[in-house]
Formats: sequence, structure tokens, C-alpha cells
Amino acid sequence: MSDSDDDVPTLSAETLAALQEFYSETRNGLSQDTNTSDKFCVGALEEDWRMSQFWYSDDTATRLAEEVIHEAGEGGRIACVSAPSVYQKLRQGVVHGSDRVSAVVLEYDRRFATYGHEFIFYDYNEPLSLPEDVAPHSFDIVLADPPYLSEECLSKVAETVKYLSKGKVLLCTGAIMEQHAKALLDVNMCSFLPKHNKNLANEFRCFVNYPSRLLSC
Ligand SMILES: C[S@@+](CC[C@H](N)C(=O)[O-])C[C@H]1O[C@@H](n2cnc3c(N)ncnc32)[C@H](O)[C@@H]1O
Repeated sequence: MSDSDDDVPTLSAETLAALQEFYSETRNGLSQDTNTSDKFCVGALEEDWRMSQFWYSDDTATRLAEEVIHEAGEGGRIACVSAPSVYQKLRQGVVHGSDRVSAVVLEYDRRFATYGHEFIFYDYNEPLSLPEDVAPHSFDIVLADPPYLSEECLSKVAETVKYLSKGKVLLCTGAIMEQHAKALLDVNMCSFLPKHNKNLANEFRCFVNYPSRLLSC
């Protein structure tokens, strides 16, 4: 066997480019090779329990995406606050009407910055610390899923939600938060039962402040 340069394995330019893309996405935390649709899969980023991350099941993310599309209307703007799965579902290109709305995700987990200008860093501890170009009352519907089941957390998230929303609010949280949710956001519990990829110990519900067809409130 010769030890000339000819024997050194080489990669084509295309293969090298694909590898570079793979490594860059891995660094961003995307767990799969990503065509447009995969990149927005619910679960494309793994749950991190240290940030209280519990992703919806695919069916629930779809149902919630359908709901916000319907309520936002043609050309509507949707804000997903601490609810990246719904944002992903809106962007995956699989829900009817998702191409006729715009959406942003407000998130504490910077791995979601992979979604570019539609990612807005958000820490509920500073509920109104938002970029200047996020105008008050500029979203047709705001969907929020606060990280913690506490009045303190919900009241701060409620501040953000009221700042962002033109009126409609869809809150997803534990059933035990019902009274606080009513007091803070005037929302009512829906019969729809959201599901997660991993079962939660607490009963989980959706709450809305508008007559909701899909969630049969
Ligand atoms: C209970 S999970 C809701 C996720 C939702 N079920 C989904 O599938 O999209 C709470 C979310 O709050 C985010 N979070 C954690 N700490 C936060 C903070 N300090 N401020 C705002 N959001 C935070 C987590 O990254 C997570 O996405």
C-alpha cells in the first residue's frame, strides 16, 4: 500500500458543507439534522428540566396552533410566551393557515435563538424588559405557558401578556392556578385537556378570555 497523498480520504465540497451545517446546528442544540420542517419539530430541542421545560404532545401543539391561527385571523400576529412548541408548530408548515399569520417566541432558553428574528429573549422576572420594537398591544393573540405554578410567576407573566395583547389571551397552566388566572387575566378554564410528551404530576388546563370554538370553553 502506498502512503502517498492520494490515499488520504477526502470529502467533496457538498459533503463538507453538509457536515459544517450539522456541527453548527448541534452546537445550537438542535438534536436532528434539520430540513425546514424538522427544524421546527416539537422536541427538536430536548427538554431541560432545570428550566421547567415540558413540551406538549404533537397533537396538543397542533390543536393550540390551530386555535391561535383561527383567533388571530388573516394576517394576524401571534406571540408565544414561554411556549416554544406552539411557535414551532406554527412554523413547521403543517397546520392549515399558518402561512397567513406571523409569530414570535418569547423565551428564556437561548437555544431558541436559532429561530432568528422571531426569537425574543424573555425573563418573566423582568416582565416588561422587551426590545423597543415590540410595541404594546401589537399581537392579535398571546399564548402563554409560565414556567412555574406560583402566583408570583403568573402575575409577572400576566404583566407581559397584557402589554403584548390587543385583547385575546390563551393561558396554559396548572388547574390549581384557576383563581389567580381569573383574577389576573380574567380567563376561564376550557374543557380541552392539553397533553405533554411526558406525563405531568399536576392537572394541566387551558384558559381563555374569549369565546373559544376549538377549546369548547
Ligand atoms: C412549562 S414550560 C412550557 C412549554 C410548553 N409546554 C411548550 O411545549 O412549548 C415553561 C417554559 O418557560 C421557559 N422558561 C424557563 N425559565 C423562564 C424564565 N425565567 N422566564 C421566561 N420563561 C422561562 C422554559 O424554557 C419553558 O419553555
